[in-house]
This record gives sequence, C-alpha cells and structure tokens, in this order.
Amino acid sequence: MRKIVIAGNWKMYKTQAEALEFLQGFMPLLEETPEDREVVLCVPFTDLATLSRNLHGGRIRLGAQNVHWQEVGAYTGEISASMLTEIGARYVIIGHSERRQYFGETDQTVNLRLKAAQAHGLIPILCVGETKQQRDAGETEAIIFNQLKQDLVEVDQQNLVIAYEPIWAIGTGDTCETREANRVIGLIRQQLTNPNVPIQYGGSVKPDNIDEIMAQSEIDGALVGGASLQPESFARIVNYQT
Ligand code: PGA
Repeated sequence: MRKIVIAGNWKMYKTQAEALEFLQGFMPLLEETPEDREVVLCVPFTDLATLSRNLHGGRIRLGAQNVHWQEVGAYTGEISASMLTEIGARYVIIGHSERRQYFGETDQTVNLRLKAAQAHGLIPILCVGETKQQRDAGETEAIIFNQLKQDLVEVDQQNLVIAYEPIWAIGTGDTCETREANRVIGLIRQQLTNPNVPIQYGGSVKPDNIDEIMAQSEIDGALVGGASLQPESFARIVNYQT
C-alpha cells in the first residue's frame, strides 16, 4: 500500500499571526479526514515554531520549503536540517521549480539537500517537472528522467516523496490533464527502485479538481500552492471524495 500525502506549499505567504489564524480555521475541518491521509503544511521558516507549538499533537505534519546540506557553517541566510527537526519539521520540499528557476538550484545541490535531509530523519518532497517549452518539444520524459537520475544518486527511496509538477501548470490555473499526469507519474514510478514511493501531482490543484486527480491509479497525493492558503479550500482538498 502506498501512503497518501497531501501537502500545502505556502511559499512566501503568511506571517505568524496569519499562520495561527489559518490553523484555527483549519484544524476543526480535519475531524472527518480519513486516518490514512498524511496532511502536511510546508510553511515559511518563520512560521514553523509558532505552528509547531500550536498543533497540540493533532494530525498535521509540518514541513519546510528548503534545507541546506551542511550541518553548520558560514552560510549566511541558510537553515540546516537539525534546525528544522528541532523545531518540529518532519518534511521538507526540495528542488521546487521556483528554487531551480530563481535561486540557482541545480540537480547537484538538490541531491546534496536530499541526502542531508534524510540523514536527519526529514522526509524530502522532491519536485520534478518540465517547462512548457520542453513539453512542446516532446522532451517531457527525457527531462524528468534526467532530473530523477541526478537528484536521486545515493538517496534512500524508503523515506521519500516525489511531486510531479509540470512548471506550466504551477500557479496558472492550467492544470495538467489528469490522465496525462497519471501517465507521467506512472513513468516516474518505473524509474524508481522502490515502487511504493508516494508520488504527488502538483500544479493548480483546487477543490474542484482534486477528486478527479485522486481517482487516478498512480497519483498518491498532491502538492498544493495557492489553494492551501485558505482553510476551507485546503480542507476540501485534504478531504477529497473517493
Ligand atoms: P499552485 O502551486 O498549486 O499554486 O499551482 C503548486 C506548487 O508550486 O507547489
């Protein structure tokens, strides 16, 4: 049985006060959420401690959105894995396309981050996906296989989540057709040594398309940006109907 993981990616949204307000609205909406769904919130570093203190042992797991690979050192602006685990984080997004695109993230640094996260017991959510231009050129499979090949060198596939996020579908409202997302995710699975790695779909996941997305045979969850910012909309996603 593959685990189902639904994760919100808040990106650079929400002060601590706003994060707490979200939590107060969101937690009561999880009472009926089936036990076998892992509910994760990947929040800005500054929100982690506040949220951690206010989860009260509930079912929400906390995640960060990046981690550095060194234990300590002169790396201004970076955060280490032990800083994250100390504060209560269980997951960390690695290699999000926004980091690859705007912050010089490469497959080599993604690989280093994945290994450092796992060495500290964090479960990485590795993001892969193609641009519109690459898709139009028929390069989708080659791009993703290459990302996986480089990113997963010496990575433990027992403690890993992968998110397939076509870049053209992120924040655009232009969701990848569900059967196509299912097809690509099936191909990703074939590249893995552990076929039970949960593989999420990400890119304009909304309350009105989550049921169809989760009905696909290969899709084990979702990585949700914009629609994870409001308690009601993220709760509807987490409480998808089968
Ligand atoms: P979106 O973002 O749901 O707003 O498209 C997804 C993501 O970037 O992880």
